[in-house]
Order: sequence, then structure tokens, then C-alpha cells
Amino acid sequence: RVFVVSDLHTDYPENMEWVRRLAVRAGPPGAGEGFDALVVAGDVAETRDNFARTMEALRARFDAVFYVPGNHDLWLRREGGRYVDSMEKLTALLDACSELGVDTGPRTIGDLGIIPLFSWYHKSFDKEKDVNSVRVPSLEMACKDFHACQWPLDLGSDDEALALYFDKLNDKNNDAIEEVKKKSKQILTFSHFVPRQELCPEKRMLYYPNLPKVIGSDYLERRLRAIHDNAKDGAACHVFGHTHFCWDSVVDGIRYVQAPLAYPRERKRRINGGQGWLPFCVYRDGFNPEIYPAIWSDYYNKNRREPENTQLAPWVAKYFSKYYGPPVFAKQTESS
Ligand SMILES: [Fe+2]
Repeated sequence: RVFVVSDLHTDYPENMEWVRRLAVRAGPPGAGEGFDALVVAGDVAETRDNFARTMEALRARFDAVFYVPGNHDLWLRREGGRYVDSMEKLTALLDACSELGVDTGPRTIGDLGIIPLFSWYHKSFDKEKDVNSVRVPSLEMACKDFHACQWPLDLGSDDEALALYFDKLNDKNNDAIEEVKKKSKQILTFSHFVPRQELCPEKRMLYYPNLPKVIGSDYLERRLRAIHDNAKDGAACHVFGHTHFCWDSVVDGIRYVQAPLAYPRERKRRINGGQGWLPFCVYRDGFNPEIYPAIWSDYYNKNRREPENTQLAPWVAKYFSKYYGPPVFAKQTESS
């Protein structure tokens, strides 16, 4: 069996507790029937110490644990100057993984190939019309990565430089990926960031309508499509994380799944974080045909996407009028 989860955020004690309970519940590796693997699609913890504690607990429960780094994993603000920049922390996390026996490269288990893909977001990933009826806080204000991560100078300024840098990190696995493709009947690729914009709700539905500018990568979609290029029907799956929206939908022959634990406050509101059904069992001697309950992908499996429509959803309009006053172009919005 292969289970998937993302966005564990175990700096929250409730989330660390969830991991510990999960680790205890099913006994040590090999205690269950067959082989159980867990795919962790990034954002484990903000500090290296919590990261290592989390992965150690998971490794004590699962026969294999796979991981790719998320943005929170590369934050430096609580590391006390331990790393010069986020690249040095990235190396430290990958070293911790090899010490703990956590896989960060491609590997075949039974008939299934599991391939982690490094990625980072770029603004130009967002191709949809902006919401301009309200004043949306800047990306630098809304997204802590701009302060909590530090990058080498040549990577910090250009929009696509980081996305390209992270994408290129996958090149070192090209031979291993080819091997895995030869040996496997099905393939599961996974990343922290989002590969396609339609895997995120439209801007008018979002409390932060500029969210699509800090979530995804076109390079990632290109790379995962190349890996799944001649997959048979139902044999290709990509797992992602980051936006904390549960997701399960098939786009052009590839199944896309997000199964985030998310923040405790999100689980309480029951809108995006999963809980009872996590980690989600995506594979049991073949991909699980059951599409799992996810509010937004259920919505888009039934309703067409209308990115041209920028009229705020009622809950977003209410949120903006509470925190930012009435919409700037309220009249046009009402009459349209
Ligand atoms: Fe994230």
C-alpha cells in the first residue's frame, strides 16, 4: 500500500501529536500485511529539529517514506543562524533524510515507481485574470517565504530563476527515472508545488486572490508529463501539496491528488485540511479507484471553471469588506 499526505506542519503540537498517533497505531514496519509506503509531499516543519523528529516517527511506522521539500521546510527564521541560506538548509534536510532512511530519489516498489520532483513557484504560472475590485495585499506582505527564506543573490531577484533552479535539480535523477520507468507498471510522481492552475480554485473564490502567483510551476507540469508520457489508462498519478485544498481529479489522463493535514485552524473549519481519512491510501496493488472526498475538486468535477468572472464569491466579498472596507469598484461589480 502507498499512503499520501502533505503539509504536516508539525511545528503545531496538535499536528506533531497526529503524526505520533499515526506512528503508534499500526505498529512498527513489517507488523502489518505486506509493504506500506508513505509519500510526504513537503512542508513537514519549519525547523530542522522538528523535521527530523517527524520523519523519524514516520520511518518507525512505514516500510518506506518518500519526501520532497516544501517552502516552510526551507524557512530560516527559527534556525538561529544555523544555515547561511535556504540552499544550505536544503542540503541539511536531504542529509537528514539519508541518515533516517527517507527516500528523496526515484525508486520502484513492487509494480509502482515513485518519483519525487523538486520544484518552486514562479509568478508567471498564473495565467488567469486578476481580481481588481478589491485592493489585494502584495505578495511580499502575504507570503512569508519572501522574508523567511534566504537565497543566493543570483536566484533571489528574477521571477523564474528559483523555479528553474529547483526544476534542474531533478536532472541528476534522469538515469534513475528511466530505470524506474522501465521496471514499473504504474508511476506516482510527487511535488510540493502545484503543476497546473486548474488544480487551485479560481481567484474570486480565494481569500487571497493572488494566491496562484505563489503556488505553482510550469516547469513541473512539463517534467511530470514527460515522465508519464506513454502511461496506460489509470497508470499515472501526481501528488502535490502547498495550497491546503484537498484535491482528487483526472486531467488529460493523469490523476492529481492533494491530501494535506494543513493547519489545526483549517481542520476546525473543515474547509480544506483533511483529518479522519489521512493519510490517503492512493495505491493498493494498483491505484485506488475511489476518488476521495475533496470539496473543491468535487466542485470543479461538476462545474466549469470561469476565470473571466472576477466577481468575488460571497464569502470573499464579506471577508474583504470586514478587513479592508467596501470594494474599490463596488458599483461596477454590482451592475455587472
Ligand atoms: Fe507550502
